[in-house]
Amino acid sequence: MKKENNYPDIVKEYLTEIAEYYRFLHQDTLRKICNLSDIVLELPEGFIYDKFYSVTEGELENSGGGAGRFMLYDAMDSEDQKKVDGTWLRGHSDSGGFTFITSQPILSLQIRDYYTGKWNFVGHTPNGLIVNIGDAMEFITGGFFKSSIHRVVNPPDDQAGFRRLVLIYFCKPKGDAILDPTALNSSKLQRLGYVKPKEWEIIDFKAWNNEKSRLFGKSKVNDTQSEEPKLVLLYGRLHERWHQAESNFSLEEAEKRFEILKIDV
Ligand SMILES: [Fe+2]
Repeated sequence: MKKENNYPDIVKEYLTEIAEYYRFLHQDTLRKICNLSDIVLELPEGFIYDKFYSVTEGELENSGGGAGRFMLYDAMDSEDQKKVDGTWLRGHSDSGGFTFITSQPILSLQIRDYYTGKWNFVGHTPNGLIVNIGDAMEFITGGFFKSSIHRVVNPPDDQAGFRRLVLIYFCKPKGDAILDPTALNSSKLQRLGYVKPKEWEIIDFKAWNNEKSRLFGKSKVNDTQSEEPKLVLLYGRLHERWHQAESNFSLEEAEKRFEILKIDV
């Protein structure tokens, strides 16, 4: 609570309610999503939450946890829209386990179709939460769950004057959680062939999160003419995985087709 002094007054005033909101999302909503994942993966109910997300008080680094963010996008005038070519936040995947985003009555968030590469708006569900799968769950399931590539763009013309307010919760696994499917020992994943690819180094969430965060918004990755960033190889994994649904896509293929940055960590 030491950082309390840095919060804006409006946040300070409602800190108790804000903490209660995020605690509920973690301990209730996230638990339900994890239980659903257990069912999908044929694991005992509670396995994923307990293994990756349970909270240990006083153990900040290696406890399940998360980060809250409030974002208010003001309407952009046409000059500014031109500067960013209509894209407010470039396509990326989140590094954590799951991301919860409050649904808003404005079309602006888009998800990239995994198979066709087409961008689709996320429609509004009143009082709903949009749940994105993040990198950590993709790695923990050996690629069975897909980390969604999403972006924020200009809304359609009839919504151009709207402001977009979103409350986000990034659910993060324990810092020392190993990011591959070995720990799950899921018979379903084994049956379907989702095993740890040999090129994946054994890493924990802390390592992935630190390195991926360091790349966010960096010009050496993002200064490209296309909508895609340059691909970066981190611990045997591409930091954003835009092409993996393509047939025969492999790291070897990617290296032939794309400029891949290798960063020593
Ligand atoms: Fe994101």
